[in-house]
Amino acid sequence: MRVLVTGAASGIGAATLARCRRDGHRVAALDLNAEGLARIEADVQVVADVSVENDVRRAVDEAAAGLGGIDAVVSCAGIAGRGTVADTELADWERIFGVNVRGVYLTAKAAVPHLRRAGGGAIVNVASQLGLVAAPNAAAYCASKGAVVLLTKAMALDHAAEGIRVNCVCPGPTATPMLDTYFGATPDPDAERALYEQAQAHGRLVEPEEVASAIAYLISPEAASTIGAALVVDGGYSIR
Ligand code: NAI
Repeated sequence: MRVLVTGAASGIGAATLARCRRDGHRVAALDLNAEGLARIEADVQVVADVSVENDVRRAVDEAAAGLGGIDAVVSCAGIAGRGTVADTELADWERIFGVNVRGVYLTAKAAVPHLRRAGGGAIVNVASQLGLVAAPNAAAYCASKGAVVLLTKAMALDHAAEGIRVNCVCPGPTATPMLDTYFGATPDPDAERALYEQAQAHGRLVEPEEVASAIAYLISPEAASTIGAALVVDGGYSIR
């Protein structure tokens, strides 16, 4: 398969890219971070901001040209954000929605013509366990990920008949630079990490490779009847 991964320079995206390469796929890596992209191995690398329409369209077209088409797209690019609605600035709200929601929409909009040309394919959006259950002090992030879950289902309905399967994954707290940055901003990062680990049913953070495994399944032909699913990979976070 020919797979495009956004947010591929770090964390879950990088793990997904590596998994796809191990599975024998040709891969295009898209990310805003040019330096990070330069450090990873991919058949095609494209620097782009998923929240900017022209940038995404150019990058997706470049990826398709480099790979000779696209069969699967993984929208992993995303940003975190803290705050209640009372203390979230409008600019921060729009920045979070710009990447986490508009970015998923723009990536799919640019990619669907290529998937149609390939005769069908798969899209996997990376949502979050916080798209299914709320957490305190993360209003914009929770809302953005909830939007990704329902956007996934709407897209799944719209495109199933043309052979494009759309699903999302809902990871729990995953050991990536995003979560490290969050821990690092708290007064006691080790204690905060321990709290997160204890909140998990299996007592540890999720590994990015575990999320990549779920994504590898969702893009594979084995998931042919899995359409519009929100596949939870959260170590049991959301079951209570
Ligand atoms: P990360 O920060 O390690 O990687 C995110 C990547 O996205 C970075 O390489 C970054 O440069 C890229 N990116 C950010 N904004 C971009 C933009 N506008 N255009 C293109 N690329 C952009 O984060 P991580 O943890 O790997 O997160 C990946 C996805 O998983 C995100 O959507 C995140 O919300 C989601 N997620 C993460 C969880 C966690 O605990 N780490 C839990 C649940 C969901």
